[in-house]
Amino acid sequence: FPIHKPTQESWSFSGPFGTYDKAQLQRGLKVYKEVCSACHSMDLVAFRTLEDLGYTEAQVKALAAEYEVEDGPNADGEMFTRKATPNDHFPAPFPNHAAAAAANNGAAPPDFSLIAKARSAERGFPTFVFDIFTQYAEGGPDYIHALLTGYDEEPPAGMEIAEGTHYNPYFIAGKSLAMAKPLSDDQVTYDDGSPQTVDQYSRDVSAFLMWAAEPHMEARKQTGFRVMAFLLLFGALIYLTKRRVWSNVA
Ligand code: HEM
Repeated sequence: FPIHKPTQESWSFSGPFGTYDKAQLQRGLKVYKEVCSACHSMDLVAFRTLEDLGYTEAQVKALAAEYEVEDGPNADGEMFTRKATPNDHFPAPFPNHAAAAAANNGAAPPDFSLIAKARSAERGFPTFVFDIFTQYAEGGPDYIHALLTGYDEEPPAGMEIAEGTHYNPYFIAGKSLAMAKPLSDDQVTYDDGSPQTVDQYSRDVSAFLMWAAEPHMEARKQTGFRVMAFLLLFGALIYLTKRRVWSNVA
């Protein structure tokens, strides 16, 4: 059975000058909080980094305080729970991998910290040569968007789908996965007037996951561009110098 290739979407962070769209990241965070975080952890992301999304310190503090985290041991050697602070990371929905797998038909929902990078497919020769110059990094978000919007197709006639799994022709590791279609229209309320559709939710949460996996992408691209510009200029100067130095050698 063929696995469908994700379509290439257009992302604000594509290309050598790409930047994150903060309003989109805020919407993506909302989708993660209200839908995905019921099953998917994001262990490596600290609340304080949400200032990148345009929130103030006070807003991040209030956002963190919505969560409880485990801390301790205290002076009596006991663990306790307390309100999260900006220095804490997003708490996981399950205490450990075994519990996560047990609650999901044996397939633990993967952690989201690096998922957008982890699912960025190798594109092979000759595409990867151009990918270096366009700073291609959108394979992961394209895949996540395709997966989330790819549930509505019927399995081809004669295809057996394992019990407790759901057909999705975009899933990278088989014909069906343990995650049921997580999003439906109007499920998450947006207050900036963006369309409340599965397509828009998927797009926003994919962008958010790209940020989570690579929060310093903008700085990396800017540095990359300066390095390339410098190398071109330096190369030209070296070439002219060489011509001058050797100009009177027959
Ligand atoms: C797997 C995204 C919500 C349960 C995955 C994968 C992604 C993903 C990208 C990895 C697929 C792969 O391995 O290539 C999302 C997003 C969500 C969401 C963006 C929110 C919009 C949920 C919810 C649940 C869930 C609410 C639980 C009810 C799972 C499980 C897997 C999975 C069990 C593992 C599937 C398998 O390997 O068979 N999800 N998910 N997800 N998700 Fe979600």
